[in-house]
Parts: sequence; structure tokens; C-alpha cells
Amino acid sequence: MSKVAVVFWSQSGNTQSMAEAVAEGAGTEAIEVSSFSAADVANYDAFAFGCPAMGAEELESDEFEPVWNECVPELGSKPVALFGSYGWGGGEYLDTWKSQAEDAGVNVVSTVICNDAPDDDALSQLKDLGEELAQ
Ligand SMILES: Cc1cc2nc3c(=O)[nH]c(=O)nc-3n(C[C@H](O)[C@H](O)[C@H](O)COP(=O)(O)O)c2cc1C
Repeated sequence: MSKVAVVFWSQSGNTQSMAEAVAEGAGTEAIEVSSFSAADVANYDAFAFGCPAMGAEELESDEFEPVWNECVPELGSKPVALFGSYGWGGGEYLDTWKSQAEDAGVNVVSTVICNDAPDDDALSQLKDLGEELAQ
């Protein structure tokens, strides 16, 4: 079994609900990004990072993005899933995030996006994702 880190930032709880579903599937607890750092990356085999669309189709810049940026060089070829919730856009921020991650060498294995709160289908998909990451 792989040890999975599910690391998230959430303002109003939607991305947190997504993170908790991934963590449930992976048999672990979701970790708020404020409690995670690049030094922790070595302790895990696979990752799911979650952040909603903030700014103008951007990652949350005060807490999430600095930690994400410092983790990127440490991730190596370990599998990484990206997920998050958006409100009124089309979820473009996640496409941008994925592209930039791949350009930086991150092994992005999956992305999951939800409009506002995850519905039952999305929660099921997220739980499956957690199970896959933990295999
Ligand atoms: C300051 C701010 C900026 C936002 N910017 C975007 C955006 O650019 N595109 C978008 O689709 N939604 C945007 N949203 C909506 C959030 O992504 C959406 O409400 C999401 O469900 C919040 O997730 P959370 O509950 O995990 O915080 C923004 C919300 C806030 C508060």
C-alpha cells in the first residue's frame, strides 16, 4: 500500500469535502496545507493536492500556492492528483495548474474538478481516486 498525502486549502468547505472523500478512499486523514511542507513530501508515496479557483482563475496565493511551489521540486516521479472546486468559471484554473505542474516535471495522474460542492457522483469518484492512489 502506498502512503498517500491529501493536502488541501478550502475557504468555504467545498474543496475540504472533496479532500475528505479522497482521504477516506486512501484510508487516511486529509491535511490542511498550513500543516504541510516540502519537508513532509519524503514521507509519502503518492499525493492529492486540492485547491479551489481563487483570484482570477488562480490558486489561492497566500497559503496554498507557496507550499505547492516548494513541494514541486521534491515530488520527483511520485503520482500526484490535483483537485478542487470552482464557482463561476469553467474550471480553467485546474487546466492551467495541471499544465504548469507537468511543465515542472510533476507526474500528474488525475484531476477532479467540481462546481461548488461535490455531489454524490463526484464524492464517489474522489473516493475511488483515493483508493487508486493508495494501491
Ligand atoms: C476571492 C475568490 C475568488 C474566486 N475566484 C474564482 C475564479 O476565478 N473562478 C471560479 O470559477 N470561481 C472562483 N471563486 C469561487 C470559488 O472557487 C468557489 O466558491 C469554490 O467552491 C470555493 O471552494 P471552497 O469551498 O473549497 O473554498 C472565487 C471565490 C472567491 C472567494
